[in-house]
Amino acid sequence: MCGIIGYAGSRNAAPLLLQGLRRLEYRGYDSAGVATLTCEGIAHRRAVGKLVNLEALLEKEPLLGTVGIGHNRWATHGKPTVENAHPHTSCNGRVAVVHNGTIENYIELRKELEAEGCTFSSETDTEVVAHLVERALRTGVPSLEDAVAASLTHLRGAYALAIISAEHPGEIVAARLSSALFIGFGAEGVMLSSDEVGFNGSASEVLALEDGEVATLCADGSRRLRGVSAEDMQARITPPSVSLDDIDKGGYPHLMLKEIDEQPDAIRNVLRGRLGTNSIKLGGVEAIKGRLADSRRIYMVACGTSYHAALFGKRLIEGLVRIPVEVALASEFFHEDVLVDKRDSVIGVSQSGSTFDTLRAIELAKKRKALTFGITNRVGSELAQLTGAGIYLHVGPECAVASTKAFTGQATAFALLALRLAYERGYMQDIQPLIRGLAMLPKWVEQALRTRAQIQSIVASISKAQRAIFIGRGYGVPLALEGALKLKEVAYIDAHGYAAGELKHGPLALVEEGTPVVAVALRSKVHTAMLANMEEAKARGAHVIALATQGDYEVPCVADECIELPDIPEELMAIVGAIPLQLLAYEWGVAKGLDVDQPRNLAKSVTVG
Ligand code: G6P
Repeated sequence: MCGIIGYAGSRNAAPLLLQGLRRLEYRGYDSAGVATLTCEGIAHRRAVGKLVNLEALLEKEPLLGTVGIGHNRWATHGKPTVENAHPHTSCNGRVAVVHNGTIENYIELRKELEAEGCTFSSETDTEVVAHLVERALRTGVPSLEDAVAASLTHLRGAYALAIISAEHPGEIVAARLSSALFIGFGAEGVMLSSDEVGFNGSASEVLALEDGEVATLCADGSRRLRGVSAEDMQARITPPSVSLDDIDKGGYPHLMLKEIDEQPDAIRNVLRGRLGTNSIKLGGVEAIKGRLADSRRIYMVACGTSYHAALFGKRLIEGLVRIPVEVALASEFFHEDVLVDKRDSVIGVSQSGSTFDTLRAIELAKKRKALTFGITNRVGSELAQLTGAGIYLHVGPECAVASTKAFTGQATAFALLALRLAYERGYMQDIQPLIRGLAMLPKWVEQALRTRAQIQSIVASISKAQRAIFIGRGYGVPLALEGALKLKEVAYIDAHGYAAGELKHGPLALVEEGTPVVAVALRSKVHTAMLANMEEAKARGAHVIALATQGDYEVPCVADECIELPDIPEELMAIVGAIPLQLLAYEWGVAKGLDVDQPRNLAKSVTVG
C-alpha cells in the first residue's frame, strides 16, 4: 500500500528519492518522508499530506547525503501525522526504516522493547523494526545486514523494508516477505523501489527480490544478496520492463484520461499472439488446460475493479464452457469454511498482482491443493509467482488509482480464456463469432472513446446530483457495478450498481425527480426486460441515461439520453460498454475539480489486509 524508495550512489540522494516518490505516489499519499546518511548521522524530513508538502519542506530545509531512503504512506496503524510518517528511527536516532506491509506481532514486540527501555515516538507497527535493528547492532554483529537478518527472525507478517544505519554509512539493507521490492542498477548508483516505476527511467538493469531475501546495496556500486552467489544474482538481473513513456502523462491533463485513451492499444496487446483467425493460443494455459477445463468448479478471487472483471469472467465461462463458477471477494475467501479442494481451480485476478487479500486467498487454495491460476498485469508479481500459471495482461503500467485499462484488459483476457476452454471441451458452436468479435474489439473501443464530448455535456446537465444508480442485466450487471464504483472513487458520488431486476426490491426508493439512472441497455437477450426496468425508473422521475446499440429505436423512446455504441456481441459488452462509464466518472470528477488520479482515502496497490 505504501511506496518505498532508496538510493545509494554518487549523487545527492534527496532529489532522486523525491522523483521516485512522485512516481510511487499512487501507492499512498497521506504523508511522506525521506532520510539520508550525512556526516553527522541520519537526517530526516517528513510531512503530512501529498508529496508537494514534503517537497516544500525539503526546499526550505534541504538534506545532504548520497545514500537515503524514502516513503509514501497510506495509513493503517495510526493516523496520518508527522510522527507516524516514515522513515522511523530508533531511540538513538542512528537507524532509520521505511516499511510496506504489516507487522502482525508488533504489539507484543513493542511491549518487549518498551520493557527494555525503548521509547516509541509513533503509533505504527513499523517502528519496532528500527528498535530491533538498533538492539541487534548493540550486540556487536559485524554488519548492518546481520543486524537486519537477526531482527527479521522476530517479525511475523508481511514486509518490504529498507534500512540505513549511521554505524554503516554508504549502504542500504533491504528485505522482502510477501511485499514487492525491486533493485535497479544505473550509471549513477543503485536504487530500491516498491515498483519499477519508482526508478524513473534511471535503471538499466533490474532485480526483483524474492520472499525471504535480504540485499545490501552500496554507494560504491557493490551489491550482495544474502546467501545467493554473485553468479546466481547476476542470472536474475533483467532489463527494466517499464519505460518513462509508459508512466508519464504524455501531454494529458490526467493519467486516468491517458489510460482510458490507451485502451484500444492495450487490448491489442492483450490479444497479440493469442488470437488466431479461428483459434486461441494462451501460452500460460497450455500445460494446465485439461485440468482447468475439467475442474469441478472454478472459483475466482479478486478485489475492487478486478472483482467486477471476474464477475464478467464468470458469465463468460459458465456460458461458453459450462463449468460452474463462483466469484468471491478475496477478503471473504480465506476462512476455514470455504469449500475449495483439489477438484477445483482458483483464479486470482489482480492488476497489481500484489493485493494482500487476493494473495492470501490463493495461498489458501494452494493449501487445499486446488489448481491456482493468475490473471495479472504485473510480470513477476507475487500473484504470478504464487500461481505459476496464468495470463499476463500486457496493458502497460496503470498508475491512476482508479483502474480503467486493466479492467478492459482483464475482461479481454477472460474472453480469451473462456474461448480456449470452450474449445478444449469441444463446445465449438459459439466460438467463431466471438473470435471475430475479439478481432474487432480495438476498433469498437476506439468508437466508444468518441462519446467523450457527449458525456461532457451529459455531465454538465447532471453534475449537481449527489447520487446515481447504475443498472444492467446479464453481461451488463458487472458493468453496472463497475460504473458505480468508478463514479464513487473518482467523483465521490453516492453511486449504486444493481442487477436491474432488483430495482423494485429496494433501490427504487432512492429515485427522486432527476436522479440519474444509468442503464446498460445494449442489445442482448435480456433487452426487453431492461426496457421495462428503465420504464420503472422513469415513471419515478429518474433521468435515464442509457448505453444503447446504434440503430436501436426502442431505447431512445424511454431514455432521456442515449450514448450510442457499436453493435457488438453481448458477450463482449463489458469491454466496450466500460469506456463511456469510465469517461462519465472522469468528466464528473474533473467537473467537480477533484484530483481524479489520486482520490481521497484510496491507494492503488492494497498490500495490507
Ligand atoms: C485498489 C484500487 C482499485 C483496484 C483494487 C484491486 O482498491 O484502488 O482500483 O481495483 O485495489 O487491485 P488489484 O491490483 O488487485 O487489481
